[in-house]
Amino acid sequence: MTPAGPRPDGPPPEGAALKRLAAKLPPGFLLGVSTSSYQIEGGSASRGAAGWDIFAARPDTILDHSNALTAADHYHRMPEDVALMKELGVDAYRFSISWPRVQPLGKGAVNPEGLAFYDRLLDELLEAGIRPMATLFHWDTPWALEQAGGWTKRDTAYRFADYVRIVGEAFGDRVADWVTINEPATLALEGYTLGVHAPGRALWVAGARASHHLLLGHGLAVKALREVPVKGRIGISNAHTPVFAASSRWSDRFAARNFDILSNRVFADPVLRGKRAPGLVGLGVRLSGTPRWGDAKIIAQPLDFYGVQYYFPSRVAAGPPRLKIGTPDSQTKAMLDLPMRLEPWPEYGVTGFDWPDSPDLVPVLLGHFADRYGSKLPPVIFTEGGASYPDMPNRVGAINDADRIDYLATHLSAALTEVPGVKVEGYFVWSLLDNFEWAAGYTQKFGLVAVDPDTQERTTKASFAWYQRLLAARTH
Ligand code: BGC
Repeated sequence: MTPAGPRPDGPPPEGAALKRLAAKLPPGFLLGVSTSSYQIEGGSASRGAAGWDIFAARPDTILDHSNALTAADHYHRMPEDVALMKELGVDAYRFSISWPRVQPLGKGAVNPEGLAFYDRLLDELLEAGIRPMATLFHWDTPWALEQAGGWTKRDTAYRFADYVRIVGEAFGDRVADWVTINEPATLALEGYTLGVHAPGRALWVAGARASHHLLLGHGLAVKALREVPVKGRIGISNAHTPVFAASSRWSDRFAARNFDILSNRVFADPVLRGKRAPGLVGLGVRLSGTPRWGDAKIIAQPLDFYGVQYYFPSRVAAGPPRLKIGTPDSQTKAMLDLPMRLEPWPEYGVTGFDWPDSPDLVPVLLGHFADRYGSKLPPVIFTEGGASYPDMPNRVGAINDADRIDYLATHLSAALTEVPGVKVEGYFVWSLLDNFEWAAGYTQKFGLVAVDPDTQERTTKASFAWYQRLLAARTH
C-alpha cells in the first residue's frame, strides 16, 4: 500500500478553501465512502453466479471485454481496505452485500462462508470506528433467479425479502444504516429496457415489470427488516438528475417530461407518496407493470432516510440519441431507437464519462424534492457522488487528480446549501477504490485509491489525501 500524504508534484495545499468547507459541515454530518460488492469483491469462486457474470461473458457487452471475477479482489483484501478507510478517517462506509454470496441460488441454502465474510467486515469496521451502511442489493441478481425471469417475475421480490430477512437476522445488531436497493431505475432501464446492463433484456414491457417488482421488493425488504427487527435506520438509494428541455419546442418539452418521469419519479413517487408516477406521453408505453391490490401500501413503507445519488444533470431533446443516455458503453437497438436524447451542456466541464460537472444544480435538485414530496421527504443522505477521470500517474507514479478534488469539493459544498424543506445528513464519495465500472469495465476510474489490475496494489490518489485533510479539519 502506498502511503497517503503530500507527494512530489502534488497539487498546491488548499488551505483556506478546505478550512471553509470543513467549517460549513454541520455537526453530526456523515462523511463516508461507498462501494458495491460486485464491483470490488471478486472472490467469485466462493459465491453463486450473478447475472452480471453471464452478461459480461457475452461478446461486446463490456467495453474492454473484462469481467469482475477478480475485480479489486476485496474479498481477499478486505482488512487492508478497511485499514485504508481508517487511515482516511471517514465516519461511515457504505458497502453492499452480495445476494449470490449469501444465497448462491437466490433462494434456499445459505452459504455460511458468505455470511462469515460480512461478519468479519462488520467486526473490522466497528473495530476501526467506522459506521457500517449496508446496501442489500446493488444489481448482482443471482443467476439462477435471472434464468427464471429475474425481476420481471413477482417471485423475485419475495425471494429478495427472504434473503433480506436472513441478512437482517445475522447483522441487525451491528449495521447502522440499511439501504434496500441501489438505483432500481438504472437496473430497470439499462438492464431490462435497453439491454446495456445485465441481464441484457431490451423490452419496455420487461422494464415495466421489473420496475414494479423492484418497488415491491423494496417494500417487502423494509417490512422484513422492521419485523426482524434490525436496530439500524432504513432507506433506499435512488439515482436522480435534474431534467431540462433542450428548447421550448413542445416535442423537447414532452421528451424532457418523459425522461424526468423515467429517471426521477418511477421509483420515488410510489416510495415517498404511495402513488404511481405519471404515465409517459406519446410513447405508447405503460409503466405500471403488473400491480396487485395492496402493493402500493407495501411499497410506501415509512423510511428513516432517503438516499440520493447525483452525478449529472440532463438536457433532453426529442429524437433518436446522438449521445448515449446513461453510460457511454455498449449500444443496443433499443437504445438507439429511444425517442429522446441527451444534449451536451457547453457551459459545464465534463468528467471521464462525458457527464457534465454541474454542482450548481445540486440545490436545484434538492428543491425539486421539496416541491414534489414536501413533508413526506425523509432526511436525505447523498449515498453516492463522485467522478471518473483518466487519472494518469505522473513521472514518479503519483496520481494528482486535481479535477476529482475540485468535483468533490464543489459538489459537497453544494450539497450543504440550505434548501427549505430538505435536511441533508451525509455525503458518501463514490468510490473508495477503482473498480469494475459495469459495461465500461475498468476504463472509468472513480476511486480515491487506484488499484493495479495485475498486482492489485492499492495506491492512494491526491484526492484521498484531500479527503483525509478535510475530515481531519472538521471543527465539530
Ligand atoms: C452506481 C454505481 C456506479 C456509479 C458510477 C451509480 O449509478 O450505483 O454502481 O459505479 O453510478 O457509474
